[in-house]
Amino acid sequence: MIQMVTPDAFQIHLQKLPRQDETAIETIYALGNGHFGVRASNPLQGNSSHYHGQPGMFVNGFYDLTALSYGENYSGYAQHSQTICQLPDPRFIIFEIDGIRSDETPFDIKVVDKNLDMKTGVLFEIFDIQSPSNKQFRLTMQSFASHADAHLFVINYSVSALNFTGPITIIKQHPYIDQQIQTSVDDMRAAQRDLTLDRTFIDSPIPTMLISTRKSQLALIVAQQALNENTMQPTIVDDLPSYSKTVDLTAGITQSFAFAYAISYPHQLLDTTLTQAEFANSAKQRLTDQSFNELLNASTAQLAQFWQSSDIDLQGDPTLAQGIRFNLFHLYQAAGNDGRTSIAAKGLTGPGYEGHFFWDAEMFMLPFFIYTQPKLAKQLLLYRYQTLPQARQRARELAVKNGVLFPWRTINGEEASSYYPAGTAQVHINADIAYAVDTYVRVTDDQDFLLQYGYEIIVQTARFWLAYGHWATDTAHAGKFVIDDVTGPDEYTAMVNNNYFTNRMAQNNLSIAVKYGKQLRHTHPEKLIALDVTTAEIDQFNRAADNMYLPFDTQRQIKMQDDVSTTKPLWPIKTTPRNQFPLLLHFHPMTIYHYQVNKQADTVMTDFLFPNDQSAQQLRRDFDYYEAITVHDSSLSRAIFGILAHRLHQSDEAYRYFMETVMMDLTNAQGNTGDGIHAANMGGSWLSLIYGFAGLGLEKDSLNLSPELPSEWTSLRFNIWFQNRQLAITITQSAISVKLLSGEPFHFYLNHQPVSLTSDRLISQLL
Ligand code: BGC
Repeated sequence: MIQMVTPDAFQIHLQKLPRQDETAIETIYALGNGHFGVRASNPLQGNSSHYHGQPGMFVNGFYDLTALSYGENYSGYAQHSQTICQLPDPRFIIFEIDGIRSDETPFDIKVVDKNLDMKTGVLFEIFDIQSPSNKQFRLTMQSFASHADAHLFVINYSVSALNFTGPITIIKQHPYIDQQIQTSVDDMRAAQRDLTLDRTFIDSPIPTMLISTRKSQLALIVAQQALNENTMQPTIVDDLPSYSKTVDLTAGITQSFAFAYAISYPHQLLDTTLTQAEFANSAKQRLTDQSFNELLNASTAQLAQFWQSSDIDLQGDPTLAQGIRFNLFHLYQAAGNDGRTSIAAKGLTGPGYEGHFFWDAEMFMLPFFIYTQPKLAKQLLLYRYQTLPQARQRARELAVKNGVLFPWRTINGEEASSYYPAGTAQVHINADIAYAVDTYVRVTDDQDFLLQYGYEIIVQTARFWLAYGHWATDTAHAGKFVIDDVTGPDEYTAMVNNNYFTNRMAQNNLSIAVKYGKQLRHTHPEKLIALDVTTAEIDQFNRAADNMYLPFDTQRQIKMQDDVSTTKPLWPIKTTPRNQFPLLLHFHPMTIYHYQVNKQADTVMTDFLFPNDQSAQQLRRDFDYYEAITVHDSSLSRAIFGILAHRLHQSDEAYRYFMETVMMDLTNAQGNTGDGIHAANMGGSWLSLIYGFAGLGLEKDSLNLSPELPSEWTSLRFNIWFQNRQLAITITQSAISVKLLSGEPFHFYLNHQPVSLTSDRLISQLL
């Protein structure tokens, strides 16, 4: 057994969590590494149809298609949904005692304990199991998804008898019963598709399964290798390639078995370059003579690098300190790092939202990666770059003659949203991606990325705005550039004219197309030629940005969510019974659209993203107005309101929002953690701490920090990367220090006052 010396703040102990249902626990303890994720399900019932949980593994980018059926199928509607496949659970194990097998006759299994060690990435679990013949034994499992080799999931099972002496047989094979996704058909946020996967098995040199999808024609190979401590040879059980061994459980003796699963990247089924046998051979070669500990050490070393760059050490509130680490750990587990995948709304921890990528990735999660794992951030943006052809095609499907339109929800780059008013109409996704590219370039100074990929994304999305919007001729908007018939982030308001957020983000998209266009005209004019960007086009971008219409309610002196938002009646939030939230599960969309009620931060997102746009008084008015009509039915809402409450010095409120954000999944606060983590909200907890309490932001060509800690905390420490230098920042109630860990000295701003980090590499200042 491995002893870990890890401080409490890096552990998630089941005994310390509030009571949860089984599926939420499966999500909380899910392990992953950006390539795949495995839910922490009951290891004996992984393929039983009686099991209430949702066992399984998810592989980033491995999905099947289902034809979307519409009673009225209009032109341009998305025709296929993409659904991430719920794959057989590699934790699954069969025990046989007295001739009774646990997969045929259920054994009684009790969870004794679970602990996630986030320093090593090891999930440690203890189960007490009783066979139908009343033989009791203890199963201890240690498992991890390797951070050193993205293909590996590794498990060690230890068995010791509790009330008997005698033989026990373990059988380890790829589960073969189709696992149904068991979610409520009444909740559109959950996944509801029945996918049939085909499998073929080979037994040599190690038990290996090829799983393929029927419509998307993707294939994945999973090979299983007993690690060297087992002395187990592959065999055939039930006609399936397996490992099996009978051991004697003499009192006091613990028998251990370790296995590694090698999980390939998805590839085209017809692609013959990667065959099942080749993959099995190479997995065997790589894993022969490897032990659980060796594989773990390599993974832990990689994880140590993650924590070195990405940890946040908050002193003064141990629950929060642990909660924030849990969120950072899950973000890391969720992020695709192969340039072909992104971060799903639920990470790789559950089937919710069918495993789709949304704006969540760029607007809520990417900042964490940009500042702490810039290489990974680049991979995430490359995914969008790779899908430009699909986005170009989508714009044409919508009869938009120029530019691209990224899909609202997708895995393969095509639109998968069947309800366009809250889907495709959220064209702000284009500007969100462009905003993320700009942030990435400004923070990393990765000019090469800008040149090769980033500018193309910015120009193509900017072109969309020119083509989709128009110059108004009516008196109310005369001379302005307007964007009609869109949906903003608030999904409780749809298909409006001039959504403030969309227009402001489009304005930014156009402005950065101008900014980088002018820069490249000097440094790389050939790039502009290659993209067909002319001076006249840059002028058009500029004119549309300068004249973008931004609705404003002059009577209330607030930014208006859209052209007519404040004219609608208010939804009676206070008198709506608690059990009728979230509203989307209880009211027809048109009922909701009829009122002023916000699902999530919308207009105030612009106050958050463009802090220099408004005075403190304006922010106060916007905040008060929109907070009163927001019900936070989306998990993406609270973090933004919390950050703004902090800016407005409403400390108690900011703290409450922050607490709810950080603890959302550990407490199952939204009630649907069982379907997977709320990854955007986890990113929101980083935003709250770093953009909020530490007051980090971009200023001119550098950084600004305007820190202010809640009175409950003694200190906040974190590292960030900024333009090829790593900084260690420590903030206390009364002082801040910024230390240059690597890279060149530079100047930045503290509370908007310029300071220089010179050759002594450390600045400490009283606040
Ligand atoms: C939110 C969207 C979000 C999606 C996926 C929805 O409930 O309204 O803003 O992108 O969930 O997290």
